[in-house]
Amino acid sequence: MLAEVKNARELDKMRAACRFAASVLDFIAPHVVPGVTTSELDRLCHEFIVAHGAYPAPLGYRGFPAAVCTSVNEVVCHGVPNQRALVEGDIINIDVTTIVDGWFGDTSETFAIGAIPEEAQRLVDVTREAMWLGIREVAPGKTIGDIGAVIVALARRHGYSVGEAFCGHGIGREMHMPPQVPHVGRRGQGLSLRPGMTFTIEPMLNQGTAEVEILADHWTAVTSDGRLSAQAEHTILVTEAGFEVLTMRESAWRPADLEL
Ligand code: MF3
Ligand code: CO
Ligand code: CO
Repeated sequence: MLAEVKNARELDKMRAACRFAASVLDFIAPHVVPGVTTSELDRLCHEFIVAHGAYPAPLGYRGFPAAVCTSVNEVVCHGVPNQRALVEGDIINIDVTTIVDGWFGDTSETFAIGAIPEEAQRLVDVTREAMWLGIREVAPGKTIGDIGAVIVALARRHGYSVGEAFCGHGIGREMHMPPQVPHVGRRGQGLSLRPGMTFTIEPMLNQGTAEVEILADHWTAVTSDGRLSAQAEHTILVTEAGFEVLTMRESAWRPADLEL
């Protein structure tokens, strides 16, 4: 499997694109409250993105009808925004992919609406932790399989399943490029990482089955048992020293012992 290695000039473009994608999550966070509809969140993100001279990559991508993906509760990913108002106790992943000067950045976070059940919070926390465990595997000479291996191990330890229908992906001048980055895997298997590669890590963890169904809108993927699913996503660069989280935000949760 091939994966593009980007040069210093290209990486500066990626840094700017990813920083902007992350800023959209900072912008939308205070709006993610009870009573707001996912369409309204989509509209706000869309306006913010174009007001900054960027473009929302999902819009029109293979017919996707909105600027962001909004995945509520049992929605695993690719939720199409709609008129349903969020209510206290919901969890919602907002997945932002933006194009800045031809370069893509991709990041998502799962937000809690008001007070949520302890079981939902635990799923959200473990999902974020699984993403970070995966990120911390990233270094020259490590493999794609190392990333999936640690993610699936943590998920299983907590009794969660890991979605296999959707993967992380290379990213650059396109949203989805080689390599595929599965969130399950075996140590030492798959592509060897090299400095200059950029890809996403975006695990989806489920309380119950990992099996998904696609709704009639052709996009929204839901767990086939209706139980909760959570996701977290960052765009990552492989560096000589290990990794750089290109979509990091000051405000975002990170492991306590990690300096960025
Ligand atoms: N952001 C999604 C990802 O992480 C892709 C969204 S494309 C869409 O890969 F068309 F589904 F919106
Ligand atoms: Co992605
Ligand atoms: Co995404």
